[in-house]
Amino acid sequence: MHAPVLAPSLLAGDHAHLAASAHAAAASGAPWLHLDIMDGHFVPNLTFGPEVLAALRRAGVKTFFDTHLMLAEPQRYIAAFAKAGADLISIHIEPSYDHAATLARIRELGCQNGIVLNPGTSADSIKHLLPHVDLVLVMTVQPGFGGQAFRSDMLPKLSQIAAWRQESGLKFRLEVDGGVDLKTGQACRATGTDTFVAGTSFFRATDQAAFVQTIANWS
Ligand code: DX5
Ligand code: ZN
Repeated sequence: MHAPVLAPSLLAGDHAHLAASAHAAAASGAPWLHLDIMDGHFVPNLTFGPEVLAALRRAGVKTFFDTHLMLAEPQRYIAAFAKAGADLISIHIEPSYDHAATLARIRELGCQNGIVLNPGTSADSIKHLLPHVDLVLVMTVQPGFGGQAFRSDMLPKLSQIAAWRQESGLKFRLEVDGGVDLKTGQACRATGTDTFVAGTSFFRATDQAAFVQTIANWS
């Protein structure tokens, strides 16, 4: 099993000072930074685009950029995000486009790839893609907004995907996003989840370094 990794979600950072929030997350020891990209179509909210990633890189942010595209047409934007400094680009299974080709293209662009499932989407819908991905992201809230309650009814989905990983010997990471804190995250860890997105809980933590360390120490 992969070592546990925390990916603070910059969505919960200070949008007037995104670089400061990104630097603070890195300084706390978080190895990844989660970047939520929303288009107002696939989800009912808007965030930021590739230029913000490029600006964060120019501002000296060196963490691994875990880029979560909540877009109706992600295939149109992956090259721009790769160029802007994304390390991993994850795309949703729900919209209609060529998922396999887009995942392959993300790798050709030099990034790791990931496939994402909404709470209402079954694990079966992505099973055929598992040999071709670096990461599977299971949403534990309906995407669009931070600060929502964790859906514990998603734990069996995490367990199912972790079981398929074990049976197949594949090495993809298993990530969870939405309402994750030290308590709900630990419940996910017990299923085999290794990558934890935390927005509200991380940025509101009084001791962010302790938060990172707690997750890093999960067995
Ligand atoms: C929701 C986003 C999440 C969000 C998580 O659409 O995908 O990454 O930032 O925020 P919290 O941790 O506050 O639920
Ligand atoms: Zn996200």
